[in-house]
Amino acid sequence: MNAAKAGFAVLSVIVCIGRNGTKAETMPWDDLPPGEGRELTYASCSGCHSMMLVRQQGLTREAWEDTLDWMVAEQGMPEPAPALREQILDYLAKVFSPERPYFTPDPDGLGQVGRP
Ligand code: HEC
Repeated sequence: MNAAKAGFAVLSVIVCIGRNGTKAETMPWDDLPPGEGRELTYASCSGCHSMMLVRQQGLTREAWEDTLDWMVAEQGMPEPAPALREQILDYLAKVFSPERPYFTPDPDGLGQVGRP
Protein backbone atom coordinates (compact mmCIF):
# COMPACT_ATOMS: atom_id res chain seq x y z
CA MET A 1 0.00 0.00 0.00
CA ASN A 2 1.50 3.35 -0.92
CA ALA A 3 1.38 6.39 1.32
CA ALA A 4 -1.56 8.01 -0.46
CA LYS A 5 -3.66 4.89 -0.15
CA ALA A 6 -2.74 4.45 3.48
CA GLY A 7 -3.70 8.06 4.13
CA PHE A 8 -7.04 7.56 2.45
CA ALA A 9 -7.70 4.46 4.51
CA VAL A 10 -7.04 6.33 7.75
CA LEU A 11 -9.23 9.21 6.61
CA SER A 12 -12.07 6.82 5.76
CA VAL A 13 -11.97 5.35 9.23
CA ILE A 14 -12.14 8.81 10.80
CA VAL A 15 -15.08 9.79 8.59
CA CYS A 16 -16.89 6.57 9.49
CA ILE A 17 -16.44 7.16 13.20
CA GLY A 18 -17.84 10.66 12.79
CA ARG A 19 -20.82 9.48 10.75
CA ASN A 20 -21.75 6.89 13.32
CA GLY A 21 -22.09 9.63 15.88
CA THR A 22 -19.85 7.92 18.36
CA LYS A 23 -18.05 9.55 21.24
CA ALA A 24 -15.51 11.08 18.91
CA GLU A 25 -18.09 13.56 17.68
CA THR A 26 -19.43 14.87 20.96
CA MET A 27 -16.50 14.23 23.28
CA PRO A 28 -15.27 17.84 23.44
CA TRP A 29 -18.32 18.94 25.43
CA ASP A 30 -18.62 15.77 27.46
CA ASP A 31 -21.74 14.78 25.54
CA LEU A 32 -23.69 17.94 26.23
CA PRO A 33 -26.33 18.34 23.52
CA PRO A 34 -25.80 21.25 21.13
CA GLY A 35 -27.48 24.53 21.94
CA GLU A 36 -26.71 28.13 22.72
CA GLY A 37 -24.70 28.21 25.92
CA ARG A 38 -23.26 24.72 25.66
CA GLU A 39 -19.62 25.75 25.59
CA LEU A 40 -20.13 28.27 28.39
CA THR A 41 -21.90 25.69 30.53
CA TYR A 42 -19.19 23.15 29.87
CA ALA A 43 -16.50 25.66 30.78
CA SER A 44 -18.34 26.70 33.95
CA CYS A 45 -19.17 23.28 35.31
CA SER A 46 -16.73 20.71 34.04
CA GLY A 47 -13.74 21.88 36.04
CA CYS A 48 -15.09 20.22 39.16
CA HIS A 49 -17.07 17.25 37.99
CA SER A 50 -18.19 15.26 35.01
CA MET A 51 -21.07 16.68 32.99
CA MET A 52 -22.69 13.32 33.63
CA LEU A 53 -23.85 14.79 36.94
CA VAL A 54 -25.57 17.52 34.95
CA ARG A 55 -26.80 15.38 32.07
CA GLN A 56 -28.69 13.03 34.34
CA GLN A 57 -30.88 15.85 35.68
CA GLY A 58 -34.26 16.98 34.39
CA LEU A 59 -35.04 20.18 36.25
CA THR A 60 -37.15 23.32 36.00
CA ARG A 61 -35.36 26.62 35.50
CA GLU A 62 -36.03 27.44 39.16
CA ALA A 63 -34.45 24.18 40.25
CA TRP A 64 -31.45 24.86 38.03
CA GLU A 65 -31.15 28.30 39.64
CA ASP A 66 -31.14 26.63 43.05
CA THR A 67 -28.54 24.14 41.87
CA LEU A 68 -26.31 26.88 40.51
CA ASP A 69 -26.72 28.91 43.72
CA TRP A 70 -25.80 25.79 45.68
CA MET A 71 -22.68 25.29 43.54
CA VAL A 72 -21.66 28.87 44.34
CA ALA A 73 -22.62 28.91 48.00
CA GLU A 74 -21.47 25.46 49.07
CA GLN A 75 -19.22 23.95 46.43
CA GLY A 76 -16.86 26.83 45.72
CA MET A 77 -18.01 27.69 42.22
CA PRO A 78 -17.06 31.26 41.26
CA GLU A 79 -20.19 33.41 40.93
CA PRO A 80 -20.81 33.84 37.19
CA ALA A 81 -21.49 37.36 35.87
CA PRO A 82 -25.27 37.94 35.62
CA ALA A 83 -25.35 37.78 31.81
CA LEU A 84 -23.40 34.53 31.79
CA ARG A 85 -25.52 33.09 34.57
CA GLU A 86 -28.61 33.73 32.43
CA GLN A 87 -27.06 31.95 29.46
CA ILE A 88 -26.12 28.94 31.54
CA LEU A 89 -29.59 28.72 33.08
CA ASP A 90 -31.29 29.15 29.71
CA TYR A 91 -29.24 26.32 28.30
CA LEU A 92 -29.74 23.97 31.25
CA ALA A 93 -33.46 24.66 31.49
CA LYS A 94 -33.84 24.01 27.79
CA VAL A 95 -31.91 20.80 27.32
CA PHE A 96 -32.29 19.28 30.79
CA SER A 97 -35.86 20.25 31.62
CA PRO A 98 -38.32 17.89 33.34
CA GLU A 99 -40.09 17.34 30.01
CA ARG A 100 -36.97 16.45 28.12
CA PRO A 101 -34.36 14.79 30.23
CA TYR A 102 -31.46 14.18 27.93
CA PHE A 103 -31.50 10.45 28.38
CA THR A 104 -35.18 10.02 27.60
CA PRO A 105 -35.78 9.18 23.94
CA ASP A 106 -38.35 11.54 22.48
CA PRO A 107 -40.27 11.45 19.21
CA ASP A 108 -38.73 14.54 17.65
CA GLY A 109 -35.28 13.37 18.60
CA LEU A 110 -34.22 16.38 20.66
CA GLY A 111 -32.66 14.07 23.18
CA GLN A 112 -30.51 12.60 20.46
CA VAL A 113 -29.25 15.82 18.95
CA GLY A 114 -25.79 15.40 17.51
CA ARG A 115 -26.26 11.63 17.20
CA PRO A 116 -27.47 10.91 13.68
C1 HEC B 1 -16.12 24.59 42.24
C2 HEC B 1 -16.56 23.26 41.90
C3 HEC B 1 -17.87 23.10 41.18
C4 HEC B 1 -18.32 23.76 40.06
C5 HEC B 1 -17.62 24.85 39.27
C6 HEC B 1 -19.60 23.19 39.74
N1 HEC B 1 -19.90 22.20 40.62
FE1 HEC B 1 -21.59 21.03 40.60
N2 HEC B 1 -20.90 20.00 42.17
C7 HEC B 1 -19.71 20.23 42.86
C8 HEC B 1 -19.57 19.28 43.94
C9 HEC B 1 -18.42 19.21 44.92
C10 HEC B 1 -20.72 18.45 43.86
C11 HEC B 1 -21.07 17.28 44.77
C12 HEC B 1 -21.85 17.85 45.92
C13 HEC B 1 -22.40 16.79 46.83
O1 HEC B 1 -22.89 15.78 46.33
O2 HEC B 1 -22.38 17.02 48.04
C14 HEC B 1 -21.52 18.92 42.74
C15 HEC B 1 -22.70 18.34 42.36
C16 HEC B 1 -23.50 18.78 41.32
C17 HEC B 1 -24.75 18.19 40.92
C18 HEC B 1 -25.38 16.94 41.51
C19 HEC B 1 -26.41 17.35 42.48
C20 HEC B 1 -27.07 16.13 43.04
O3 HEC B 1 -28.25 16.27 43.40
O4 HEC B 1 -26.46 15.07 43.11
C21 HEC B 1 -25.23 18.92 39.89
C22 HEC B 1 -26.52 18.71 39.12
C23 HEC B 1 -24.26 19.96 39.63
N3 HEC B 1 -23.22 19.84 40.51
C24 HEC B 1 -24.40 20.91 38.66
C25 HEC B 1 -23.45 21.86 38.34
C26 HEC B 1 -23.59 22.81 37.28
C27 HEC B 1 -24.78 22.89 36.35
C28 HEC B 1 -22.46 23.56 37.29
C29 HEC B 1 -22.10 24.68 36.35
C30 HEC B 1 -23.09 25.72 36.19
C31 HEC B 1 -21.62 23.08 38.37
N4 HEC B 1 -22.26 22.05 39.00
C32 HEC B 1 -20.38 23.60 38.68
C33 HEC B 1 -18.79 21.22 42.57
C34 HEC B 1 -18.88 22.10 41.51
